[in-house]
Amino acid sequence: MNSQSAALSSATPRLESIRSPRQWWKDAVIYQIYPRSFADSNGDGIGDLAGITVHLDYLAGLSIDAIWLSPFYVSPQADAGYDVADYRQVDPLFGTLEDFDVMLAAAHARDLRVIVDVVPNHTSTAHDWFAAALAAGAGSPARARYIFRDGAGESGENPPNNWQSLFGGPAWTRAADGEWYLHLFDSSQPDLNWRHPDVLEEFDSILRFWLDRGVDGFRVDVAHGLIKHDDLPDHDFDAPFEGTGNFGPMWDQDDVHAIYQRWNGVLAEYGGERIMVAEAWVSPPERLSRYVRADEMQQAFNFEFMTVGWDATGLRRSIDAARAITGEVGATTTWVMSNHDVVRHVSRLGLPDPTSWPKGISASDAQPDYRLGLARARAMTLLVLALPGSAYVFEGEELGLPDHTTLRDEDRMDPGFFRSGGRDVGRDGCRIPLPWSGSEPGFGFGPTDKTWLPQPVEFGELAVDRQDGVAGSTLELYRAALALRRGRALGAGDLTWHVSTPTVLHFSNSGVRVVVNFGHSPLPLPHGLELILSSGPGAVVAGGLQPNHAVWLV
Ligand code: NOJ
Repeated sequence: MNSQSAALSSATPRLESIRSPRQWWKDAVIYQIYPRSFADSNGDGIGDLAGITVHLDYLAGLSIDAIWLSPFYVSPQADAGYDVADYRQVDPLFGTLEDFDVMLAAAHARDLRVIVDVVPNHTSTAHDWFAAALAAGAGSPARARYIFRDGAGESGENPPNNWQSLFGGPAWTRAADGEWYLHLFDSSQPDLNWRHPDVLEEFDSILRFWLDRGVDGFRVDVAHGLIKHDDLPDHDFDAPFEGTGNFGPMWDQDDVHAIYQRWNGVLAEYGGERIMVAEAWVSPPERLSRYVRADEMQQAFNFEFMTVGWDATGLRRSIDAARAITGEVGATTTWVMSNHDVVRHVSRLGLPDPTSWPKGISASDAQPDYRLGLARARAMTLLVLALPGSAYVFEGEELGLPDHTTLRDEDRMDPGFFRSGGRDVGRDGCRIPLPWSGSEPGFGFGPTDKTWLPQPVEFGELAVDRQDGVAGSTLELYRAALALRRGRALGAGDLTWHVSTPTVLHFSNSGVRVVVNFGHSPLPLPHGLELILSSGPGAVVAGGLQPNHAVWLV
């Protein structure tokens, strides 16, 4: 073991995780805010922290428990803020630290906890450490904080290994003096060397900086990527792999867990109610559960569930597996349907194959059937919000927003589009600024008509003010479902299956019967039960649950 490996394993002595009896996260509903697309207070077309503060009553009215904010730190914005240049400052695009403190206090005053993103796998090339590393030259201590290597080939003209960036192209870029640096994402996002003690200490300090300000936890970006195989071996990208996660010598290495044990100790210093949630695209699910062992993180996104789509058999299998596996380590499961990296589920579920998993949808692709996708998405909402465990809601899903599937290439911003030469259209389609008012310029996103990505015209009809108080709207469905979920403590309940076939899922939790019709014909509902919520106005006709609909009965 070299001295840097020793630094990692002998990190801060493991403190016992202090878990209070409450463990609020175990059944929490957490709403993801993508700050640049939530609400703009100053008219520059980019959402900001003050915009969030303005809408906190709206969020509290959803009966959610917490909000999670994607990055708002100083950044060149090459990857929409996931390229951080200063982890302790708010980017002027989003406001100031004072704006953050105001937002945090206002959220807490409404009993909303606040989770922020931490981006530890890589910094921005604009970070002081990287500038110092480039300036200091090959072999310098400053370079040891990143992963610099000599190239292959006679004069080092080839990358050190065959790793590929997740955004396309090689995962290595050559510095002017000939050394190469590793970046699993964009070339502006150099990977840190997590075997280096400076990196460990710096991130302890960053966590404490935000914990001292009062945040309730962290969403850990690329949690499975921090430790790479020491030898940086070539990877066989064509090797068969059964799973939905990332696989290879750059992902999910066993030593990564020592970092989260260390961080668990840092959070425990703050009283046991602070959490970490892992963004870890790993599989099989047993590998994911390692991140939520009692002395590591509290939650991990259950992406395997998200990728299943409209498939009763697959969902049943996924739900049972996730619950059993997380239960073994004393954690609960998270249920996630959408986020800022994937096609919104309203659009996915309306595709000709509603189990498909496109990286993005462009105008030249088959277009989703919006009405069908929305019906299924609303039925999925009733399924997901009735499951025991924690649920995540991505901003705008409560409005039934689809992806923007006809964006023009010249409007795209995602580095994935550019690095793949346009082969992947990228993730912009799910990141469109929210519509708050159907009749105002920019659909009320801000005080001007500016929006950093164009909104599709259909967003007007879906705006908050068009759905607010309207019986049968998607917004009112979410409000009702979330209030019932809280009132009946469904997140803390248990699940009993009654029927599970390729066309029906029917279970109960805490006295609530949940029936979802995945088939093509109406489904007789059980007799003698009262309907307390249905996924749409036409869900039940003459006692029969219509296809693509769901109900809650008691
Ligand atoms: C995952 C984030 O969710 C995504 O938006 C980002 O591009 C990558 N990590 C790199 O930080």
